[in-house]
Amino acid sequence: MIADRIKKGINGEIKIPGDKSISHRSIIIPSISNGISEINNLLMSDDVLHTLNAFKLMGVNIETYNNKILIHGKGLNSLKKPSQNIYLGNSGTSARLLTGLLASQPFNTIIEGDKSLSSRPMGRITKPLKIMGAEFNNDNGTLPLNIIGKELHKAEIKIEVPSAQIKSGLILAAINTEGTTTLIEKNITRDHTENMLKSFGAELEIEKKGIETFIYINGKKELESSSIDVPSDLSSSAFFIVAALINQNSKILLKNININPTRDGILRALLKMGAKINIKNKRNFSGEIVADINVEHSELKGCELGPELAKLMIDEYPIIAVAAAFADSPSIFRGLGELRVKESDRLELIRLNLNRCGCDCKVVNDDLLIKPSKKYLVKNNKIRTDFDHRIAMSFAIMGSKIGNLNIEDTDAINTSFPNFNYIYNNAGGNFW
Ligand code: S3P
Repeated sequence: MIADRIKKGINGEIKIPGDKSISHRSIIIPSISNGISEINNLLMSDDVLHTLNAFKLMGVNIETYNNKILIHGKGLNSLKKPSQNIYLGNSGTSARLLTGLLASQPFNTIIEGDKSLSSRPMGRITKPLKIMGAEFNNDNGTLPLNIIGKELHKAEIKIEVPSAQIKSGLILAAINTEGTTTLIEKNITRDHTENMLKSFGAELEIEKKGIETFIYINGKKELESSSIDVPSDLSSSAFFIVAALINQNSKILLKNININPTRDGILRALLKMGAKINIKNKRNFSGEIVADINVEHSELKGCELGPELAKLMIDEYPIIAVAAAFADSPSIFRGLGELRVKESDRLELIRLNLNRCGCDCKVVNDDLLIKPSKKYLVKNNKIRTDFDHRIAMSFAIMGSKIGNLNIEDTDAINTSFPNFNYIYNNAGGNFW
């Protein structure tokens, strides 16, 4: 698809779809609770539909009506052995969370994924699960993975990789395991699983001790159904926020955006770059914080972001790199090693594609250096995405300034943001 330079800016009130992380959890947790949960504004993207299908395959009755679903949960041990392998497409979140959950179920399952997911590391979840006694048959570090479901035992586990997916997989294993399992996290990662489980009545406590967070899960306590309003996704909003910031005559309003403090690094970073972002009307929404966000065109400054911010905005580096390419001075973003094992090697694709656009961008160790220019001369208009949705959308926004970018594999956008093109073009974008 071609992303073209735009003329009149990005404008209006833009409806951002439901949060992807919260949507996955809004299927998993109600499916193992007791009673009917009504879920509103679930993100109907490919990744989330893979999670939904997995639970249907395991016998959960899920009714879908447009933007609302009803999940009939029957308790912690109500899942049935699926009659086929569970295919999870591109979804790392489904793979890591389900590995934890299924390790503690009384049946075996095989989970598999597409080419990208089949190359992503699974040892980071199977290794700590083994401390609880989990077993896997063909555990060679990637999918497909054969999970030998069994009764696990409580444990105390230090989480080595800073990852909400790993933490959440372990929590879901612990929730169905007798006794209190303790997880110790050194880095802050998104806490949607903890928030939602608490509102479903789980015995889960969190204690901060210095830089460490201790999560205590008392397992085998049945969960009670509850309704969830899924807030709009800050990661999806980020494409529109940056589009409005870098294009003149832009002014947008985004409503009901999840600004969970374990996830809001992109807002902190853009504010540091001098962005005119106004966050108002903060409120609680199904155990999460949401707000309305006004954004207008701004003259951005370059900035330095340390590795501590990487955990709070891990999915937003492709789009903040585009923002940095239009700042008035260089930027350096540090500690981005995790970007190499996302849906693609994002560090390399940011570098390669910014270079193709004529922007001076380097990767030094795990740091990304971007030297903006006043005028870009595109060297090669082909944008390589390796089927990564966030790379595709970020360069669609890059196209709004430099025009005529030919972005490969744009179908990948359905992973997290169906109708992105339509919503973007309606707001003034030009992505055909
Ligand atoms: C997610 C956690 C993050 C993020 C992913 C969604 C989640 O991964 O990149 O898009 O829903 O828990 P890591 O926690 O592995 O960094």
